[in-house]
Amino acid sequence: MPRRRTRFVCQECGFHSQKWLGRCPGCGAWESFLEEVEAEGRPTGAAVAAPRAMDSVDVEDDPRIASRLHELDRVMGGGIVRGSTTLVAGDPGIGKSTLMSELGRLLDPLPVLYVTGEESVRQVRMRADRVGGATGNVLLFAETNVEAIAEAASDARPDVLIVDSIQTVFRPELESAPGSVSQIRESAASLLRLARRLEAATFLVGHVTRTGSIAGPRVLEHLVDTVLYFEGDRHHGYRILRAVKNRFGSTNEIGVFEMGPGGLKEVANPSEVFLAERRADCSGSSVASIMEGTRPVLVEVQALVTESSYGTPQRTTSGFDLRRLQLLLAVLEKREGLGFSGHDVFLNVAGGMRIDEPAADLAVAVALASSLRDVPADRCGVVVGEVGLGGEVRSVSRLDTRLREAAKLGFSRSVAPAANLSAGFAVEGLDILGVDHLGEALDVLF
Ligand code: TYD
Ligand code: MG
Repeated sequence: MPRRRTRFVCQECGFHSQKWLGRCPGCGAWESFLEEVEAEGRPTGAAVAAPRAMDSVDVEDDPRIASRLHELDRVMGGGIVRGSTTLVAGDPGIGKSTLMSELGRLLDPLPVLYVTGEESVRQVRMRADRVGGATGNVLLFAETNVEAIAEAASDARPDVLIVDSIQTVFRPELESAPGSVSQIRESAASLLRLARRLEAATFLVGHVTRTGSIAGPRVLEHLVDTVLYFEGDRHHGYRILRAVKNRFGSTNEIGVFEMGPGGLKEVANPSEVFLAERRADCSGSSVASIMEGTRPVLVEVQALVTESSYGTPQRTTSGFDLRRLQLLLAVLEKREGLGFSGHDVFLNVAGGMRIDEPAADLAVAVALASSLRDVPADRCGVVVGEVGLGGEVRSVSRLDTRLREAAKLGFSRSVAPAANLSAGFAVEGLDILGVDHLGEALDVLF
């Protein structure tokens, strides 16, 4: 009997080694190595397509499928590319299966094969009934063996294959359990080959672990064409679909959904929902205009600055980079003489949004100052600008787009970088105050 080769694989990042290691050199995780049997020889299952002349490969005019789930189409770069593979990752319970059912329904009449490894076909049907109705184009298949999935897909020839979830499927010739790194990687690799061969756009659903990696296989991110994260606060209705990798489009676009009793609804105007519960007369709240890809989104920045009762003051953020907050606090302190050293500072971006562009700096600084002095910041309106270490307000990209969104939502004032305001710059209905320095923005407040 041939001796089976084994190796040790990090369950967090997929790093492998011939011997057990206490700490993973790849990701730094402790005690994450498990022994696994290596896959041998050629992959079995799907037959491999034969080589063909380059000029005999068809080039369709539009290789993309428009799914009618517009938010998804946008995030994917204008529709779903045939034969591509997409990983849809997110926390358990965030709504991945709901999103995939919705996708299947909206693709009607295109054939969709929905492989369900976690729920029974009955459960999937019941969910579909609740959220918009079951459709005949979706074939449900409760199966976890990759070979059986390949066979069913070869028969059904679906345009879209959904595997929910990649953690439940397995290749029978591997000894490790479903959900282990090698099973996930090898199963995904088989499904990828299948997707290419059948030219079926394939969605692999993956759960994210506590540590934030897609359970085990961050390795999957390298295998697939597109990685989508489905995020949001489980206690709020909003869900944000974000591309973190996209071989066929930009990674800047987001899709916004609202989860309710009738399933996921697309949110066509995110600014409206993110500002819906805002109390303008409350101190510590300001409105930033950020760009999510090509789309401007207005978001509420909330700061709470309170006297700290213990030695080291706390700095806590949600939806904003902690170091950027510390930097802005230092600038406010040094350049504007606003002392935060005896205060705890909490910063929150409302509605579960995440800000990662410097154009929101000024809005954050205004929210902080507003909370510290306990004066509402609504006089500033929508606040746009990057703040430099000298307290200077720097120009931002696409100011006109950002401010037009503000006007559209009924704002009448805005504070914006003077450097952006060329002669004649105007946005109808908006009174724009150009500022060169942080202090000028704060003058509007105090
Ligand atoms: P689900 O899609 O099963 O999550 P995932 O596949 O990411 O684990 O969604 C689960 C949650 O969504 C569940 O807590 C209930 C909620 N939900 C609604 O609020 N409304 C609905 O119409 C549906 C189908 C689910
Ligand atoms: Mg699910």
